Amino acid sequence: MIEIQGVSKSYHGDVKAVDNIDLSIDAGRIFGFLGPNGAGKTTTIKMITGILSPDSGDIVLNGKSIIKDPFAAKSCFGLVPDDPNIFPRLRGVEYLRFLGDVYKVPSDIRAERIKKLASRLALTDALGDRIQSYSHGMRQKLMIIGALIHDPDIWILDEPMTGLDPQSSYELKTMMREHADAGNTVFFSTHVLEVAERICDELAIIDRGHIRFSGTLAEMRELSRADDSLEAMFLRLVSEGSAASEEGQA
Ligand SMILES: Nc1ncnc2c1ncn2[C@@H]1O[C@H](COP(=O)(O)OP(=O)(O)O)[C@@H](O)[C@H]1O
Ligand SMILES: [Mg+2]
Repeated sequence: MIEIQGVSKSYHGDVKAVDNIDLSIDAGRIFGFLGPNGAGKTTTIKMITGILSPDSGDIVLNGKSIIKDPFAAKSCFGLVPDDPNIFPRLRGVEYLRFLGDVYKVPSDIRAERIKKLASRLALTDALGDRIQSYSHGMRQKLMIIGALIHDPDIWILDEPMTGLDPQSSYELKTMMREHADAGNTVFFSTHVLEVAERICDELAIIDRGHIRFSGTLAEMRELSRADDSLEAMFLRLVSEGSAASEEGQA
């Protein structure tokens, strides 16, 4: 479970990238965090995972505050970041062993997990190659395997389908479903409504740092007019938000 309580963040004391948001993400569900480019998704994910400190508020992961108890909170989750371009000179398997060391995963268990995950995501043959020779999608898959190497309860994924081929994208969605169905928390961001519509049980829409909607897909459908598509509803929520903030500035 992830609880986000009154969290705000500004960059350089300027415009608020995230403005006083509250969200509660239950275990056993796939939660989609939806919003246009620049809405504040990555900033929120960086605060959930302790990469950035919020200006105010708290974030609690499985009962542990990322601010007050960062070490315990960090052991609960695996993060797939939005930018998979790291450690280009390492070989894929070296990167995974390094993460296994960081999380103190015993080497036999680690080897078993790498084997299983690499086979599911069709990355086995590339594990001996240097990351700099990988395509964007292959780096993305390596990040996913690395995030899951310590078998975390909470999965946090920032735009995880970007660059994945259809087979891997399908495989990842299946893995997300299995993990949630086993009673764990899966939180992912996307700017693609279709992706959210297909796989999430609950979602929140963020726009210019504000949560415009939070609830189940069914609730969102109920809110949208009978003849309205979910896409029209999404665009309306986001444009109403921008009209309101323009009025605020006038
Ligand atoms: N490191 C940074 N410095 C200054 N502004 C930033 C930085 N990162 C993000 N922003 C700004 O914060 C806002 C939210 O960005 P971000 O959280 O990356 O959005 P999203 O992930 O939804 O596309 C945007 O206006 C963006 O320009
Ligand atoms: Mg982002």
